[in-house]
Amino acid sequence: MDVRGFRLTGVPPDFFDDPYRYYAALREQDPVHELENGAVFLTRYEDVVALYRDARASSDKRVEFRPKFGDSPLYEHHTTSLVFNDPPLHTRVRRIIMGAVNQKAIARMEPNVARLVDALLAEIAEKREANFIDEFAAQIPIEVIGNLLDIPRAERSPLRGGSVAILSGLEPKLTAQMLDAGNRAVTDFIEYLKVLIAERRRKPGDYGSDVLTRLIQGERDGEKLTEKELYHQCIFLLNAGHETTTNLIGNGLWALLNNPGELARLRADPALVPSAIEEMLRHDGPIQLNNRRLTAPMTLSGKTLAKDTLVTIGIGAANHDPGQFPDPERFDVARKPNRHVAFGQGDHVCVGMNVARMEGRIALGKLLQRFAKIELAGEPERDRRIRFRGFRKLPVRVG
Ligand code: HEM
Repeated sequence: MDVRGFRLTGVPPDFFDDPYRYYAALREQDPVHELENGAVFLTRYEDVVALYRDARASSDKRVEFRPKFGDSPLYEHHTTSLVFNDPPLHTRVRRIIMGAVNQKAIARMEPNVARLVDALLAEIAEKREANFIDEFAAQIPIEVIGNLLDIPRAERSPLRGGSVAILSGLEPKLTAQMLDAGNRAVTDFIEYLKVLIAERRRKPGDYGSDVLTRLIQGERDGEKLTEKELYHQCIFLLNAGHETTTNLIGNGLWALLNNPGELARLRADPALVPSAIEEMLRHDGPIQLNNRRLTAPMTLSGKTLAKDTLVTIGIGAANHDPGQFPDPERFDVARKPNRHVAFGQGDHVCVGMNVARMEGRIALGKLLQRFAKIELAGEPERDRRIRFRGFRKLPVRVG
């Protein structure tokens, strides 16, 4: 395959079903591949990890997003949230959030997730057929994130659509419609948050477990967030753990259905569920791309990149690098070691990774326990985006 002209803004139609073939060709032929305007795309594991860990790799997106979003709500959001900032804002916000998603907090969340999953499975058992994404996978993160910020249940249903619209703004290629939807979603979220935050200021929650109360009050001995900073951390949190976790569960089931031997192995030994979740994250992870800008020159795979180079990190590509993962296309529920980069690495490594792992473990573990037979009940429909990888529809029949 000749990938000399490969562009993330114009991928071939068959890329969506299997991007990994393209990533493999890039890794072999041109691991630091030039895109438009001198930007580059990394596909080797070693380069990806080196960049994630390097202080010259900035997450500040102001230069990149100004021409993309103009002066708009999407620009304000994506340049204020912690993920697209460097220290000091990044460090401050990260510390505040971390305290509410540590192992103790996750252990407290578990029984509630287990109850929800049991209830969802009981409904599916009755109907025998379901769209696994809408009726199962997406319901779990809505509950978890909604609880983290203590959003009233009746107000949770717009969260998923808003989150998809805002994160779609990060795709390499945007339509006017995607921009409109993203901007509208940011504006709507802010209007909603103004009320929620005013209410929480009046009636604070538990500082130990309520992320919104923590963000409002800031670190006990530190600076407070401004109102604008507060809105955008909340919006990011609502979005970050949403579609990603939905797609971990959806892509995970898809991998099991396509690998009946591994499905049987997992059924026979449920102790493998945690390593199966890691393999799902590696093999077909929910986030395929991240970005950085170089604040000083850096050499990767023998190529010296100038200061200000925009770098796209190939997460899925690194996770299929045979130099790190023997037989990388093989889905192996017991793979060890499995040092994948599905959650990124370095200073910005996913804050919610253990929350997502817990959700995946309970969702898929209980699904397999509940149903001896799970099969496709129709044509699955892929979400045709390239940063976020998942399904819109995954019709299943259970028995
Ligand atoms: C399978 C599900 C998930 C995946 C694959 C995922 C992936 C990622 C990745 C790759 C990053 C790094 C971005 C970068 O370096 O530019 C990240 C950051 C982040 N994630 Fe996740 N995530 C998931 C679930 C969650 C959940 C459930 C939460 C919240 C409860 C969450 C909260 C965050 C936050 C706050 C950051 C920003 C961290 C920082 O900038 O320091 N994520 N995630």
